[in-house]
Amino acid sequence: MNLISIDREKCVKDAICAAECPVKIIDVQNGFPEIIKGTEKFCINCGHCVAVCPSAALSHKNISIEDCLEINPDLAIGPQQVEQFLRSRRSIRSYKKKPVEKELLEKLITLAGHAPSGHNLQPVHWHVIHEREELTKLCSHVVDWMRWMIKEQPQAAALLELEMVVKGQEAGNDIITRDAPHLILAHGIQKSPIAQPACTIALTWLELTLPSFGLGGCWCGFFNAAAMFWPPLQKELGLKQGHISYGAMMVGYPRYAYHRMPPRNPPRITGL
Ligand SMILES: Cc1cc2nc3c(=O)[nH]c(=O)nc-3n(C[C@H](O)[C@H](O)[C@H](O)COP(=O)(O)O)c2cc1C
Repeated sequence: MNLISIDREKCVKDAICAAECPVKIIDVQNGFPEIIKGTEKFCINCGHCVAVCPSAALSHKNISIEDCLEINPDLAIGPQQVEQFLRSRRSIRSYKKKPVEKELLEKLITLAGHAPSGHNLQPVHWHVIHEREELTKLCSHVVDWMRWMIKEQPQAAALLELEMVVKGQEAGNDIITRDAPHLILAHGIQKSPIAQPACTIALTWLELTLPSFGLGGCWCGFFNAAAMFWPPLQKELGLKQGHISYGAMMVGYPRYAYHRMPPRNPPRITGL
């Protein structure tokens, strides 16, 4: 089967697919689009050619047109909604003691999978700690890492105020994961140059999905630092060989609603 197939009844030879192909492997010199001989291997399976065709004339070997939902203009959000949506996002640190359904978490992770990644390699893997008891157990390893840091790297520990966090944990206040019911890690190949930004972007997307589903989240920097550097925690997490956690996010139902949108520092911009 060819990489792309063209419905010649529908194709209007507008060449948009060729113009939009990021790796420029579609040729339209003979009228209908075709893949330039020997360039199939450069295709990054992004689906642009299928998505951009106004007449739904192009199908891709790995991205069938039937699998591509049509964009519904009625669901488009305007600038005012975007502004309020982005300005009103908050880090949520108080959660209801109500677990989030596994199916819902899976749906949100699937949505976050639409985040961009270098070369469309989609290198992000997800690890969900769904059970709170397990999360509490894992946090004890984070505390062990903090104690080690306080002893071995006191300057860095002071900068991160780890002593205060350890004291809090010892007193029964979960400063590390804020008693969140769930923690979601984005991990990928440690040696990959694209995995780290992809995981960060995907987790950002995950955070942005949460409010519309009645949920909230917060980046969990302490947990992730321990997951990156503390072998006992890495062993417990059991991520794939050669993988590292690039980010962690608490997730749950927020206990409180927010009502106002505090300002941020003005942006530091050059060139405008
Ligand atoms: C990489 C990263 C790590 C973070 N780690 C933590 C954390 O461990 N605990 C926490 O309570 N908040 C953490 N945060 C949340 C920040 O404190 C929060 O984004 C900041 O205070 C701004 O507040 P807002 O997110 O509500 O706008 C982290 C944020 C980022 C981006």
